[in-house]
Amino acid sequence: TPQERIRNFCIIAHIDHGKSTLADRMLQITGVVDDRSMRAQYLDRMDIERERGITVKSQAVRMPWQVDGTNYALNMIDTPGHVDFTYEVSRSLAACEGAILLVDAAQGIEAQTLANLYLAMENDLTIIPVLNKIDLPGADPEKYAAEIGQLVGVDPEDVLRVSGKTGQGVPELLDHLVRTLPQPLGDPDAPCRAMIFDSVYDTYRGVVTYIRVVDGYLRSRDRIDMMSTGAHHELLEIGVSSPEPHATNGVGPGEVGYLITGVKDVRQSKVGDTITTSVRGATEPLAGYSDPKPMVFAGLFPIDGSDYPNLRDALDKLKLNDAALNYEPETSTALGFGFRVGFLGLLHLEIIRERLEREFDLDLISTAPSVVYQVRMEDGTQVEVMNPSDFPTGKVAEIHEPITKATILVPAEFIGAVMELCQSKRGTLGGMDYLSEDRVELRYTLPLAEIVFDFFDQLKSRTKGYASLDYDVSGSQTADLVKVDMLLQGEPVDAFSAIVHRDKAYHYGVEMAGKLKNLIPRQQFEVPIQAAIGARIIARENIRAMRKDVLSKCYGGDISRKRKLLEKQKEGKKRMKNIGSVEVPQEAFIAALSSD
Ligand code: GTP
Repeated sequence: TPQERIRNFCIIAHIDHGKSTLADRMLQITGVVDDRSMRAQYLDRMDIERERGITVKSQAVRMPWQVDGTNYALNMIDTPGHVDFTYEVSRSLAACEGAILLVDAAQGIEAQTLANLYLAMENDLTIIPVLNKIDLPGADPEKYAAEIGQLVGVDPEDVLRVSGKTGQGVPELLDHLVRTLPQPLGDPDAPCRAMIFDSVYDTYRGVVTYIRVVDGYLRSRDRIDMMSTGAHHELLEIGVSSPEPHATNGVGPGEVGYLITGVKDVRQSKVGDTITTSVRGATEPLAGYSDPKPMVFAGLFPIDGSDYPNLRDALDKLKLNDAALNYEPETSTALGFGFRVGFLGLLHLEIIRERLEREFDLDLISTAPSVVYQVRMEDGTQVEVMNPSDFPTGKVAEIHEPITKATILVPAEFIGAVMELCQSKRGTLGGMDYLSEDRVELRYTLPLAEIVFDFFDQLKSRTKGYASLDYDVSGSQTADLVKVDMLLQGEPVDAFSAIVHRDKAYHYGVEMAGKLKNLIPRQQFEVPIQAAIGARIIARENIRAMRKDVLSKCYGGDISRKRKLLEKQKEGKKRMKNIGSVEVPQEAFIAALSSD
């Protein structure tokens, strides 16, 4: 297709505002999916994504559309919808000339949508504001048209109104895309440059890489180079999805397509990288490439120690499809063998954990998520700490922690509650704007460590679920942080070490000591539980001694019952962990680590 007849766009929307439904309707109206074979929610393939209502991996679909007797190719690029995937979102935006800003006409815009809207504006995309679900009785298109009109700078009258469900307004929207979106620019005669905006692992075909060609052509016989690494690959197949993949002879400037090279790991086909041809290739890559960097770390341990090899296999499998996932083995006295895993953010952690439990049938316990600290010692050495139990001993000069710029959208009545929460989480107010009479945008600088702790849950509960949050890591700052250890009879329990602000250390120590006291059974001797900063004890509880004799529970006689009890106790022993001379059932640690 010649460039002047190509339009590339994506849909920016909050979860549940109806992106998948609208995308499906477009596929149906343009005839690429017939009514009968129309699978619900074509673009969201993974079960978990569908169940949780989030789209993680982006893909592209090509649709034909005729305006004034001319045939156009519309490429719809699906963007991941969550805060943890900002980089992936930015690359899918970079593959488009325009974005539909889709807003539920009964809800209005949310913080995360706003963040992606700003990202789209930074990428100079043409924004097409659209209100969805106008068929709903509760829809208030006038109100929200005014709100997004003001945001985007258009007359509220010009905000399109559609229903993805009934199809109302959708053909007009397709016409509008053709008329208002710019055609893709790019030099057809220049050496080829194509940007990878997504890569997905497929069990049968290996990695499928989605690309947007900027300059030149990629042809099916070409050998290609990945410009960030210089790796050469053979092109086994190149084509377009519509929505099933169709192999073609090549993909030209402005077009969106997929390619297969036979690589087995998405890390060999990195989002944001530039592909060129091995022969007569480009010398300058496209701008904007960066490596995804894990921001949040947690230990993952199988509850049943014999599952360790299965956990390793499962992580290896997930890694094939997730360039941001990384891990290394970790051993804990309290939890046994497991892995220290790096994630892009909290949701990424949750998704991975859920997939491990569900798709691989593993029972896992995770330690509290922590961030990466840069610790400078008084002797000048610099240490990167991803695990509180690796915190260096010795004199610390300075600790840097990652900070975020957070945006919170909330009904005006909750401003006080949100400010109070942010204050207690060491936040600094950056600014506040009214989006409409009753909705406010609050901008805060907050330490990432406070956000990964339980910020989101608290935000939701303090605002009756109305607040929405978006955050972006933006540098680091020094902070007065200390490492708190929990000791059982003088022995540290590694899984409970935490790096916390000095002002909160005492609170953490008291709370943890109390929790452990209630969960650890009495021993034959008294066991002190202490919280310590270095050698200084900041909190203490005691578990009183008790003679433990299971048989005393049986009143003589019944031998088989006695035997059963003994066997049960033996079984229980397997799951006991020894901290010094203290025997602790693993369940106690697990219970103490689960948030309440
Ligand atoms: P993610 O893919 O998870 O981000 O969600 P989404 O934004 O794609 O939302 P989805 O299309 O799954 O729609 C969310 C809910 O809204 C579903 O229950 C849809 O049936 C409903 N819905 C979507 N569009 C419309 C619409 O135009 N009218 C009405 N009444 N309901 C709609």
